[in-house]
Order: sequence, then structure tokens, then C-alpha cells
Amino acid sequence: MASAEDLPRSELPDMTHGHDSETIESWFDRTMHMDQYGTRLPFGSLGAKGLTHRFVELSGADRGRELNVLDASGGYASACLGAGSPVVGAALSRAVEEAGYVTDEIHSWERSKLLELLFREDGLWAEQFPADEYHVAGRNSGSEGMEMALRLALESRFDHRRLRPAEGRGHRDIVLAFEGAWHGWTGGLLPLLNKRHYRIGLPSVAPEPYGFTVRHIPFGQFDAAREFFARHGDRVLAVVIEPVQGDAGIIVPPAGYLREVARLCTDSGALLVADEVLTFAKTGQFFGMADENGPIPTDVSVVGKSLGMGVLSTSMVIARRNLTVRATGAISTSDLRPLTCAVIRAGLEHIQAEGMLEKSRALGEHVAKRLDEELVTVFPELYTESRGSGVMHGVELTQRVADRLGEFRETMIRSGVFVEFMGGAGRRSGGLRYVFPTMRVAPPIISTLADADAIVERLAAGSRSFLEVSA
Ligand SMILES: Cc1ncc(COP(=O)(O)O)c(C=O)c1O
Repeated sequence: MASAEDLPRSELPDMTHGHDSETIESWFDRTMHMDQYGTRLPFGSLGAKGLTHRFVELSGADRGRELNVLDASGGYASACLGAGSPVVGAALSRAVEEAGYVTDEIHSWERSKLLELLFREDGLWAEQFPADEYHVAGRNSGSEGMEMALRLALESRFDHRRLRPAEGRGHRDIVLAFEGAWHGWTGGLLPLLNKRHYRIGLPSVAPEPYGFTVRHIPFGQFDAAREFFARHGDRVLAVVIEPVQGDAGIIVPPAGYLREVARLCTDSGALLVADEVLTFAKTGQFFGMADENGPIPTDVSVVGKSLGMGVLSTSMVIARRNLTVRATGAISTSDLRPLTCAVIRAGLEHIQAEGMLEKSRALGEHVAKRLDEELVTVFPELYTESRGSGVMHGVELTQRVADRLGEFRETMIRSGVFVEFMGGAGRRSGGLRYVFPTMRVAPPIISTLADADAIVERLAAGSRSFLEVSA
């Protein structure tokens, strides 16, 4: 774990004068950067190294006080190697100097090296995605990757040359999603979200003539999925699924469920689209679409977040070779640029060489046990349940905490730990219980067992402080 002395200090404001209001007021982004949260947290970040963030209080009696905060978030679960990874730094500077910037119109050495690492016969992802069955494209973000996945599904029922519905698939008009789903904020994805708060007043798709109808079923219920397919299977164009639901509160489906959904898709001719934006490299393996019998085949998988190694926003869409778009129909300025490929390759080689995914399994088991023992058992007033997979854990909050979330978050940061909070699935059908907002504990995979212990200890300390102030 980096100490305060290791943290970057170049060009940073001097906070040693504590309540220096001029220094604090010079944080121009406080009013200039659009607030998309309702209220932002009253802290500023001065930088970070490894898992340690250097924060400063921006208001209240402690204005100017610095805090060393352990990161259990990875920045919306994207910085799998923490801050300041020398491997990523070296790859970035080498690529800036050498890699050039050709678009996807020209073949690229760097792109070629990355795709070979991933998809050659013994490649890192070859078992899940054999090269003769799949091809890939790059996008700028998870949302854009998911938009492209949806686009591939829509194009699959269309005759690209004659620009009219394709024989045999044109009638498929249902995209099946899950209650509590989260796939991104962009226009095409909004209809996949079933929460009123996320959707109302924003664009939806018109079913005719080329649109689709989104239907939602409860996540993890075998019967609901089977019944839906029994009644509407011939109309289902695609099923869009998160292997572990993130925003809904880190909900891991029961054993066998993902494989059953895959079987239902195959049997009825529907496409299976896996949103692995969040789960990528977080379930103790690269992909969440897997079980004890190995990979669960998909038609399209989208990976993001950690793929950019915490320094780039990028995603990759891996699709069956027969799924494609009309000529010139999805060209993107930044599709697998050489620099992006160089960073991804260096990061993945590093993860592989250090056995980080294997280690993250042990780390995850340790975290799960400690969250249960030190939080859920000790503080029933605050937490109802902890669940998760690999380095992605959710500790569900009680109503008492959900009502005072802002205060709770601030208390955790002042106790030296940064965690993020998910909306929760809310009300679900099929007799499934209401899921409250959930604290996401998803430390970068570079974390050691000692880091994990420190994270849980600080969460426990924060819980005690919260109980005191909210008594
Ligand atoms: C499962 C899932 N899909 C898609 C996205 C959207 O990714 P991005 O924010 O990179 O657009 C997210 C982001 O939180 C996510 O968790």
C-alpha cells in the first residue's frame, strides 16, 4: 500500500494551511463541472497511487484537512490495476512515441498483436471466443459497446443489400431484458432499463416499422425465463443479460441460470447478448459467462471498464462472425486505435503474468467472509446481506442507511475508505424481495489480503461512526 509520502505532489495546491479558503475556492470544477448527482460529495482528490487516494475536505469545520483514503471502488470499477501502474505508464508512453494513430481503415501492428494475444489458438480469450467463430470491434465506452451490440441484433433481422427485413428473422420484435438491468444511459439502451426513474420522459423505441418491444422478466428465475420463451420464443430477437447484475445490487444468479438462458436462446433462435462491461476481469476470471462446465457461449459479448486499465475509456464488442453491420454503418473514430490496443495488451499481459485473476479469487473469498463477519453480522441495523463473486461484492443497506446515504458515504470517506453505491433493484416481480441500495466493494485486483483487511476494518470503523452520529 502506498504511503502518503509516495503520493504525487507536483503542481498541487498546498493544503498544509488547513482552512485556507482561497485555496479551497480555487477548485473551479466545483461549480463548472456539471453536477449529475443531485449533490456531490464535499471532497477533492489531489491524486492517487496504488490504492491510496489523497483527498481533501472542501467544506465544513475541517476544510482543507487531508485524508488518505483506501480505494475499494476502482473508479466505477474500471481501474483494475489501481493508480499509477508503471506497466500501464510504460505502455502509454511507448505507444505515444511509436504506435501511430491509424483508424480501422488500415491494418495496425499494435491491433494485430493485441488480437493475436487474445484470440490465437492458445490466446487468453480463445476458449470463450474461438477466432473462427467471432470477430471484434472497439468502442469508446461500455454504453457505446452495448449500443453496438443492440445494433448488431437489429441488423441481424435486416437484409443489408435490399434494406428491408430479412426473410425468417424480420418478425422478431422482442428484446428481452431483466428487472434491475443496467446497460448505460444512451438513447438506445434506455428502454432496457425498467426503473421508472431511469426512463420516464426520455426517448423510447417505437415498435413499428423497425423498432422493437422490450420486455422484462425477473433475473435469476428459471420458471419466468422458461415461461417467457414458451409463449414468445419465436418473437425474441435478443436477450440482453448482465452475468452478475451490477446496478441492481451485485446480484449473482443461481447456479445453472446463465446456461439455461443460453439454451433457451439457442433453441428459439434468439441472440444472446452478454453485457460484461462491469463483470470483465472481476469474477475471478475474464468473463462472467462461465460456470463449472466452462464458457457459456454468447452471440455478442461486450467488455469495458477494466479493459481500459484505468487510463482509457474503451470497450470491445465480440460478436459471432455472421453478425455484422451494413457497409460503413458503424465506423467509429476510435475503433481499436493502436494506442488503445497497446495499453490493453500491456495490462492483460501483466494480469496474466502475475496470475492476478487466480489471486483475485482467493482475495474475493477473503473479502466475502470478512464482509459477512465484520459488517453484516455486527451491524444488522445497517446491513442486511452481503453477496458477490470474485472482486465484486455488494453489501445491501437497510432502509435506515438508504435514507441517509449522503451522510453514510461521507462517514466512510472520513474513516479512510472509498466505496460506491448502487441503486438496488427495488421492487421485483415473481415473488422476489425488494432490493435496497447496495454498497459496492470492488477493490482493484492488485489488492493484497492485507489491503482487503484494511478496507474491511475501515468500513467497520465507518459503520461504528455512522451509528454514533445517526443514533
Ligand atoms: C453493466 C454495465 N453496462 C454498461 C455500462 C455503461 O458503461 P459506460 O459508463 O462506460 O458507458 C455500465 C456502467 O456502469 C455497466 O455497469
